[in-house]
Amino acid sequence: MMERERWTSRMAFVMAAIGSAVGLGNVWRFPFVAYQNGGGAFLIPYLVALFTAGIPLMVLEYGLGKMMQAGAPTAFAKVKDKLEWVGWWAILVGFTIVIYYAVVMAWCWGYLYHSLFLSWKGRAEDFFYKDFLGLSDGPGKLGGLRLPVVVGLVLTWASIVWIVQHGVRRVGRVVMVTVPLPVILLAIFVLRGATLPGAMEGLKFYLTPDFSKLAEPRTWLAAYGQIFFSLSLAFGIMIAYASYLHERADVNNNAFITALANCGTSYFAGFAVFTVLGYMAHVVGKPVAEVVSGGPGLAFITYPTAISLLPTVPAVFGFIFFLTLLSLGIDSAFSLVEAAVTAVHDRWPISRRKATWLLSGIAFLGGLLFTTKGGLYWLDIVDHFANNYGLVGVGLAESLIVGYVLGAERFREHVNMDSEVKLGRWWDFCIKFLTPAILGILVVWSLAREFGSPYSGYPGWALLVGGWGVILLQINLGVALMSRRAFLRASLPASASLVAFAVLLEFLPPMWIMFIVASAVLYGGLAWSLSRARRGYEGM
Ligand code: PHE
Repeated sequence: MMERERWTSRMAFVMAAIGSAVGLGNVWRFPFVAYQNGGGAFLIPYLVALFTAGIPLMVLEYGLGKMMQAGAPTAFAKVKDKLEWVGWWAILVGFTIVIYYAVVMAWCWGYLYHSLFLSWKGRAEDFFYKDFLGLSDGPGKLGGLRLPVVVGLVLTWASIVWIVQHGVRRVGRVVMVTVPLPVILLAIFVLRGATLPGAMEGLKFYLTPDFSKLAEPRTWLAAYGQIFFSLSLAFGIMIAYASYLHERADVNNNAFITALANCGTSYFAGFAVFTVLGYMAHVVGKPVAEVVSGGPGLAFITYPTAISLLPTVPAVFGFIFFLTLLSLGIDSAFSLVEAAVTAVHDRWPISRRKATWLLSGIAFLGGLLFTTKGGLYWLDIVDHFANNYGLVGVGLAESLIVGYVLGAERFREHVNMDSEVKLGRWWDFCIKFLTPAILGILVVWSLAREFGSPYSGYPGWALLVGGWGVILLQINLGVALMSRRAFLRASLPASASLVAFAVLLEFLPPMWIMFIVASAVLYGGLAWSLSRARRGYEGM
């Protein structure tokens, strides 16, 4: 057997993991979520979530990867043969994400170019939606590829392939640049922002605590959701990265370092965002509340607008901003590809180089959908479902498998053995009870919202295809990659009945649904029990 690849140093591993965790979300998601959920008070649930779920799950993924010396699918197969599909599911959710994550990076390339001329000046919103994306009226209208975005996508994938095909040694070298660089660039914005009028007003918005929000469950759910997403958990990334660690490497302390560095960066990014937005509010004479936004809106509309209002060299700051986003995104993007490449390379006799080209090719072609004029709608739908169900589902499965199948206590003893920080029984509690409970509540909560009102008002068919359809496809493909037999005998029939049931729900009147459900439970159950009953009690 060939010797497994290794990181060149512990530093390389930790930096790569931080690079994966620190991404666009640290800038466009955290500050906004914090502001929406009680400002300074949000730090309380956020830190609680970090220590009760983020770090415990990070320890789990590192420990599993190191223990099994394999990417997610093979690692779960080593726990129990039949569980391999959970690993594939994680990989497939991550793979779906990188398909559109790379498109967002493609926009950044475009904006890097446009920043030279501040093309969006005075009309950032129209520039983004109309000139740049050429956005169509709805998801039903794809309306052709946007060539500039395709060019950006080529650049993104070329960089990913160039890095990943040479293995974790090259990854380890690249992250020495791509991790510190965005932090330094963010510092430039913090310094620039802090010296502008209105900055204090912006910071007040970001940090003034509203403790009443702590009484609302949604604040806590937002904190847990943000932690899982931000730490890049549940996509098999950290399992893959840790599988290239030496068998005697530290686990726990590395998890603490990664998680704290990531959350520290999020917190820091909030200063860059809110000082500059405070300035913008000051210039346009509106309250800060009216100018804040999150997600792509912040990165491509609000922040660029604020930049164009800067008193000196706005074009330079525009360029630096999109360079920041690119350097933030690239290591998150290639970590997702690395997880998939590791999984494929572990399972089949295909070289890493070939696996990289193959997977990147597929992801590039898939990404073309999101470079069409209707692409933004699809990106939004797929993103919503991947984060609310894919991520949460995989996280739930992971914690249950390690907590109960492998045994939390045994696993903890294993990771404690070589770790600089020893974990106590609290870890068992988090993995066995707390994390699954929170993730379970998150799913139910999202489902309730989903059925209450269709996400963002999209037409039902688009949500079925881009949302539920993608989830079903991921799970079925995951099972099929494990074994064709399990796919044909279990997951296909199960999904088919689920779809049939959904169709019935949609078209049958409620009376008939109750009739069918009650009959199935009562008479079907009776038939099942009778079929299992033994004949008599003679001879007992
Ligand atoms: N953690 C990244 C962020 O905060 C997002 C990400 C999720 C990256 C999953 C890779 C995988 O932006």
